[in-house]
Amino acid sequence: MIKHLTDITDFTVEELDALMDHASEIMRDPGKYSNCCKGKKLASLFFEPSTRTRLSFESAMIELGGDVLGFESGANSSAAKGESIRDTVKVVSCYADIIAMRHPEEGAGIVGAKESHVPVINAGDGGHHHPTQTLADLFTIKSELGTLDNITVGFCGDLKYGRTVHSLVSALERHKNVKMVFISPSELKMPTNIKSEITASGIDFSETRNLEKALPTLDVLYMTRIQKERFDDIEQYQQVEGSYILTTTLMKLAKEKMCVLHPLPRVNEVSAHVDSDPRSSYFRQAFYGKIMRKALIIKLLSETPAYCGFMPEASNGNAVFNGRKMVESKYSCDNEKCVTKFEQEIEEKFHADENGKIYCAYCDKEITGEILEYEKFIISDK
Ligand code: NCD
Repeated sequence: MIKHLTDITDFTVEELDALMDHASEIMRDPGKYSNCCKGKKLASLFFEPSTRTRLSFESAMIELGGDVLGFESGANSSAAKGESIRDTVKVVSCYADIIAMRHPEEGAGIVGAKESHVPVINAGDGGHHHPTQTLADLFTIKSELGTLDNITVGFCGDLKYGRTVHSLVSALERHKNVKMVFISPSELKMPTNIKSEITASGIDFSETRNLEKALPTLDVLYMTRIQKERFDDIEQYQQVEGSYILTTTLMKLAKEKMCVLHPLPRVNEVSAHVDSDPRSSYFRQAFYGKIMRKALIIKLLSETPAYCGFMPEASNGNAVFNGRKMVESKYSCDNEKCVTKFEQEIEEKFHADENGKIYCAYCDKEITGEILEYEKFIISDK
């Protein structure tokens, strides 16, 4: 059984707590871990641009005594020749002990994890999920506020395409008495599948356009960049561009003990004058991210048998839909950005929630259409 991280819910709350405890220990005594990945290789496969995530993975592995290899753009890989994600990952898992992969297609991490002989970490799949940013976010909140329970978290900006908010919501909804406030223009609201997930978890959430009104109630303000590259139509982007700018004047409305997070890069949604406010945690957050990635690499490598270096055996794929209620469906996912629209010969998979709603198991887009009787529930995570 190979342990992967494609979605933050692949880890239990207890596992995430243990990871944060380990990260605190690594932070206290980095020297103790400076050789613990000696002889191991991390492949960073970045089909999409990145500064923090790629470099923080690579620097984490180097600080653990390991080596790194990889590419920083799909144009520099065989994807440019038409190679599938499945084949790229199968090949790279002969060369590296662990893979961090970023890809523009939603659900790409799952395709990679299914075929790999070594652990695969989803370092961002289109506008879908970004679980290692969530590791950074959780550790930042816990370090700055001392808890992940009983807090009100405001998410502001692009809640539609912002993959970091989708993953953070999935993680926080498992904590006690968390309230969420979604602050966005109506065009960039939180997707309905995520809102249904929150409702099912019993968490209280509200939606507003008004940052000024919401700010005084928040313990955490999670600012995000409007994801220009994910818009199909540039005019739609221009309509929402610059919707929110957090200024020092606005910060006067915030609680004395609160923190401002931002996954970065920022465009203009947080004024640089706010940086010197002690409640601005976003640069510390980038540091915490590296420490959590160190803890994650150690965890995944220690929980997976060492495959790299051995001839891979033929396999029919790893279990990757852990914990989902998989169902059969005659429908097809209609999300144009879903990996099932690009990857060759991929079999569509579906999962269902308690209300019988059906979602694509790769990108989580709700499948619209009447649910037919013959869709029987099946138990399988492959
Ligand atoms: C984010 C991402 O790539 O989703 N950045 C990051 O990984 N720290 C946020 C963004 O690009 O806006």
